Amino acid sequence: MVNTHLTTNFLKLKEEAYLMMSNAYAPYSKFFVGAALLSDNKKIFGGCNVENAAYPEGACAESGAISAMIAGGARIIKTMCIISQSEKIVSPCGGCRQKIREFSTKDTQVYLFNVKGEFKLYSVEELLPFSFSEFDGLVKK
Ligand code: THU
Repeated sequence: MVNTHLTTNFLKLKEEAYLMMSNAYAPYSKFFVGAALLSDNKKIFGGCNVENAAYPEGACAESGAISAMIAGGARIIKTMCIISQSEKIVSPCGGCRQKIREFSTKDTQVYLFNVKGEFKLYSVEELLPFSFSEFDGLVKK
């Protein structure tokens, strides 16, 4: 098993997540989140949270990165980095876990960071056990 977090691609991915966090639009919560993912065809896509004065219209960083991946023509998340400005390691919301799960495999790696760069690595199964999928037969395992 490759130590993903020691590879050049991973450093690029982590940098992209930091950049995304700095672009976040979070004037209401002041909780800035960045996400970057590496697709199976080796492209990097990023997203940040985008809040709105009508609070429920806000969007999460992970959701933005996934939308960018789909619009960019990729379908499978190989590695994802999520970071927030908190001293605590960021924990993706339930909705985002389900969105990540839609485009994951059993080998997908999700790195959760705090602002100091400390991280924890999870599989999607760990983040969302016993998850729902209508199309289990179609999702690549
Ligand atoms: N947020 C994310 O972007 N991702 C998550 O997984 C958790 C929460 C955002 C939504 C909102 O803009 C802010 O963080 C506070 O909840």
